[in-house]
Amino acid sequence: MQINIPRGTQDILPGEVEKWQYIEKKLKEICDKFQYNEIRTPIFEHTDLFLRSVGDTTDIVTKEMYTFEDRGNRSLTLRPEGTASVVRSFVENKMHGYASQPIKLYYLGPMFRYERPQAGRFRQFVQFGVEAIGSNDPAIDAEVIALAYTAYKSFGLSKLKVVINSLGDTESRVAHREALMAHFAPNIGEFCHDCQNRLEKNPMRILDCKKDREHPLMKTAPSILEYLNEESSRYFEKVKTYLAALNIPFEVDSNLVRGLDYYKHTAFEIMSEAEGFGAITTLCGGGRYNGLTEELGGPEAPGIGFAMSIERLLSALKVENIELPIEKTIDCYLVSLGDAAKDYTVGLLHTLRQAGLSAERDYLDRKIKGQFKAADRLHAKYVAVLGEDELKNNKINVKSLETGEQKEVELSELVAVLKDFTAY
Ligand code: HAM
Repeated sequence: MQINIPRGTQDILPGEVEKWQYIEKKLKEICDKFQYNEIRTPIFEHTDLFLRSVGDTTDIVTKEMYTFEDRGNRSLTLRPEGTASVVRSFVENKMHGYASQPIKLYYLGPMFRYERPQAGRFRQFVQFGVEAIGSNDPAIDAEVIALAYTAYKSFGLSKLKVVINSLGDTESRVAHREALMAHFAPNIGEFCHDCQNRLEKNPMRILDCKKDREHPLMKTAPSILEYLNEESSRYFEKVKTYLAALNIPFEVDSNLVRGLDYYKHTAFEIMSEAEGFGAITTLCGGGRYNGLTEELGGPEAPGIGFAMSIERLLSALKVENIELPIEKTIDCYLVSLGDAAKDYTVGLLHTLRQAGLSAERDYLDRKIKGQFKAADRLHAKYVAVLGEDELKNNKINVKSLETGEQKEVELSELVAVLKDFTAY
């Protein structure tokens, strides 16, 4: 019986995996420039971590988590996102005491959400994310947005839209919450079951409902921006000023509420505006989460970050017809003729590899033509041909597949010659 891959997951095969490697490398380089350091946290965490941070009325927590009991009867969850784990680690490792502040971290790894699979939506997907914890300077909000924007630009994407909003501080949120309740309460019967529950617990979540998106009361709902207190407004103004200073075009959308509960002040998303991108146009999202460190038992340490999935980045590249500059070559393919030469290339291949060259030989007893074809398929820069006569004379024939030039060299000099040739 054939067993297939679980729904919403994918194999990333050679040919495709090179794109992932290219993207991962580039993202790490960008983090280096922006001075974010890598953090690696476990793939599973205590379930409570996500209930407390992401929020127990969010879709992620109520419908999408892969939660299981381990053999010690602990409730564990495959991480649906990275922020909760990073903040847990910040608190647990007392990073607020580190000399260098704020703490700027990035992560790259699989996340798990039991969502309905469709284009751009997987059950296992890879997020790249950053978190800056320990600063309440709006300049770092602008930096985080700039990092996300720079990342997309560096891959050649041009049809991008940056959307920002402010979700205000706690005081502003309380005022807005009351206004939302008053707005929705008289007609809440016309909304879905989830929204009816959300009215009391967290009315802002109603604005994020996928089912009731078209209800007329959604369009007329009170905007958070009208309820920002002075401090929250000032903060938002500063973020906008800094973004303008960084030449990052953006739009303000007061309906941007995000799907996680920990946000305060700045929230943002970057969308693809490319035609044919499909229903889900959000490439990445993030925002500020002041108060989350305290919620997870730590000292006050305001934070901001974002996350993007590599899957959606790849979709955006495809829709914008962007080919990543991936060059896959090897330095040398060893072609052999006759049994003695074939045997000899076993050791010779290893010598080349030990010397730092990428090299391959035939394992399928191919004729010489077939070996040359194999070298071509691997985009070998050089082919070194060893026949019975060459072997007797301790020579080998080196041919550049690019120029067709050939040269007979001493076998003992092959490494040096290839290193010399491939140094450019
Ligand atoms: P999020 O909006 O839930 O935020 O997810 C961020 C990004 O992860 C999305 O914009 C998308 O690129 C990707 N993503 C989410 N779900 C899926 C899926 N099912 N399939 C493919 N890609 C997906 C967060 O996760 C926050 N932790 C972001 C953050 C970091 N906020 C502050 N710091």
